[in-house]
Amino acid sequence: MTAIRLDALTRTFGTVRAVDDISLTIEDGEFFTLLGPSGCGKTTLLRMIAGFSDVERGSIWFDDRRIDQLPAHQRNIGMVFQNYAIFPNLTVAQNVAYGLHARKIARGEVDRRVAEALAMVELPDHGTRWPHEMSGGQLQRVAIARSLVIKPAVLLFDEPLSNLDAQLRTHMRVEIRQLQKSLGLTAVYVTHDQEEALAISDRIAVLRGGRIEQVGTPEAIYRTPGTAFVGSFMGATNMLAGMVEASDDDTTRITAGGATVLVRGRQGAAGDRVLLSIRPETLRLAADGHDGPQLVVRLTLREFLGPILRLHATLPDGTALRVAALGGQEVRATPGAEMALGYDPAQIIVYPAP
Ligand SMILES: Nc1ncnc2c1ncn2[C@@H]1O[C@H](COP(=O)(O)OP(=O)(O)OP(=O)(O)O)[C@@H](O)[C@H]1O
Ligand SMILES: [Mg+2]
Repeated sequence: MTAIRLDALTRTFGTVRAVDDISLTIEDGEFFTLLGPSGCGKTTLLRMIAGFSDVERGSIWFDDRRIDQLPAHQRNIGMVFQNYAIFPNLTVAQNVAYGLHARKIARGEVDRRVAEALAMVELPDHGTRWPHEMSGGQLQRVAIARSLVIKPAVLLFDEPLSNLDAQLRTHMRVEIRQLQKSLGLTAVYVTHDQEEALAISDRIAVLRGGRIEQVGTPEAIYRTPGTAFVGSFMGATNMLAGMVEASDDDTTRITAGGATVLVRGRQGAAGDRVLLSIRPETLRLAADGHDGPQLVVRLTLREFLGPILRLHATLPDGTALRVAALGGQEVRATPGAEMALGYDPAQIIVYPAP
C-alpha cells in the first residue's frame, strides 16, 4: 500500500531539461500513466522513481518516507521494460528468481515464490523453458512475473507492450490492469499510445517538454483537454483557426473555415483569435431531422473502416474537416456533394490562438 509523491523533480542532461519541476501525487492502488510524445521525459521520470536516474533537484516520497536517496533495490519497486530485459542464458524460472537472489532468500522460499509469480501471469508450467522457446507475449509475461516476485509495493512499466502486435497489445493491457487491481499495487505506466493510456489508466498525466500539461481521468483528458496541445495529442480532432464574432453568457458565435460555429458559454470577446477543437465523432450525419445548429460541408472522400465510417469533408473556405460515424449508418452522400452535419455547441472546445 503505497502512495507516491513527487515534489519539484528536475533532471537535466546538458542543456536539455528532461524533467522540469514536476510535482505529482499518485494515490495508493492507482494505475497512473505518463503519456506524451517522444522525448518529453517519460522514461527519465520513471527511472528517477525507480532509482536508476539521479534526482538533481526535488524529492520522491513513498507514503511518508523519502526514498530518492535510497539505492534502487531498497525501494521495493518492480520494473518492466519495453525490451523485456530477459537473460537468454537463464531459464524462465531462473529469470523470475533473479531479483530474489540479491535479497538472500532461502531456496525453498524462492521456488515457492517463483511458482506463484508464474501462475499469476498464467505460465505455470513454463519454468524450465529457455527464453528462445517463448513467444514475445510470453516473454513479456515472464518480465512481469520477475517484477512481481519480489512483492513490490509499486510497479513501474516503460512501454511494456510496444514490441507486441496490435491484438496481443490490447489483450495484455487488460491482463496487466486486472493483475494490478487484484494485487492492489500502485502502478506507474509509461506509454506514448493515447488509446492504451485511455484504456488502462485511472488517471493520466500528459507531459510535454519535461513538464506536466494536464492531469486527469481518461474521460476528463479526452473530453475537456485543458490546452490545444492535449486536445490534439489525445486522439484525432479538427483544430480550426477562428475569430469570435459575438459572445454572451449563453453562446459564442465564431467564424471558422468560412462558416459560423456556435459554442456554449462566453468564450472571449468579439475580434479574439481562437482555436476550435471539434472531435470527428461529435459531428452527426443526417442532420435533417434535427433542429440544432448545423455545418454545411462538401464531402471529399469516404473511408469505410468496418465499425467506423470516416468522412473527409471541407468547410466553405476549403478547410478540411474529418467526421467519424458508426459504420452501420447509411450515408447516401457521395464525394462532391454537400451535406449538413449536426453538432452540440457544448462539445466544441475553444482555446486562445497561440
Ligand atoms: N542519458 C541521457 N543523456 C543525455 N540526454 C538524455 C539522456 N536520457 C534522456 N535524455 C534526453 O532527455 C529527454 C527526455 O528523454 P526520455 O527518454 O525521458 O523521453 P521519453 O519521453 O521517454 O521518450 P520516448 O517516448 O522516445 O521513449 C530527451 O531529450 C532525451 O534525448
Ligand atoms: Mg522512453
